[in-house]
Amino acid sequence: MKIGVIGTGTMGSGIAQVFIEKGYEVILNGISESEIKNGFNIIDKNLDRKVKKEKITLEDKEAILEKLNICVEIDELKECDIVVEAIVENMEVKKELFKKLDEVVKEDTILATNTSSLSITEIALSTKRPDKVIGMHFFNPAPVMKLVEIIEGVASSQETVDKVHELCNQISKDPVMVKEAPGFIVNRILVPMINEAIGILGDGIATKEEIDKAMKLGAGHPMGPLELSDLIGNDVVLFIMEVLHKEFGDDKYRPHTLLKKMVRGNLLGRKTKNGFYKY
Ligand code: NAI
Repeated sequence: MKIGVIGTGTMGSGIAQVFIEKGYEVILNGISESEIKNGFNIIDKNLDRKVKKEKITLEDKEAILEKLNICVEIDELKECDIVVEAIVENMEVKKELFKKLDEVVKEDTILATNTSSLSITEIALSTKRPDKVIGMHFFNPAPVMKLVEIIEGVASSQETVDKVHELCNQISKDPVMVKEAPGFIVNRILVPMINEAIGILGDGIATKEEIDKAMKLGAGHPMGPLELSDLIGNDVVLFIMEVLHKEFGDDKYRPHTLLKKMVRGNLLGRKTKNGFYKY
């Protein structure tokens, strides 16, 4: 089975790594030479870390990387049995890509999207194979996190669902099934919780350290909500809140003004080295 992965950022490279580590041949597609180099470097570094920790040998690493092919041209994905898309979270850009992919790949190829918040059904409609389009939502870091949310769009067929479920088992992930709805399961619960924590901070009720400590010790979370927001990216948290707010039309999903202010100020978290905490 040949796997295509599109997108060479955090998620695309992580997903590609998951598959090559399980012995699948992967074609990783990126928009430019520098982008695919970036994707390769992320995987190379991750594997180096595993060698250092003696989880794999140097020979293992080389054998794993043998499975990885990289390309800039979308046409090179034509032989893939499934393509997992992990590009920028933008509906128009994703639709444009799926339309192109649909023309390039084999008739029975499954097209999966790693979107965190967009409609699978809408993405599927940009193709002539909506029954073979599905959500395959990995979590960050993809090589470590066990969960994959398998999201059924309105038109996704049972056959597609079953195949993707089986594939998740093959790569030692533990999938959950979810019908398309804003935020699916995890983000619908998690992101409003983070927004609420930001509200507590914004209202001056407790310090960031106290909020994070409270949720770690009181709710057993491995990370506090503000630390987590910095890790996910405060811009991503805001984007998901905006999707939930717009789709449900319920003010309980209104993004807190402090979150908006921080994103405007480029305090995005770890990626800008400054968010609720400094890095
Ligand atoms: P990223 O910013 O690290 O990578 C985005 C990738 O999209 C880059 O490789 C970039 O070259 C590519 N790209 C940008 N504009 C493009 C265009 N016009 N056409 C084609 N490719 C383009 O983003 P990340 O975090 O890897 O997210 C990718 C997808 O995964 C998004 O849909 C996001 O919602 C989803 N996701 C992100 C998670 C996270 O924690 N970061 C977790 C689960 C899903």
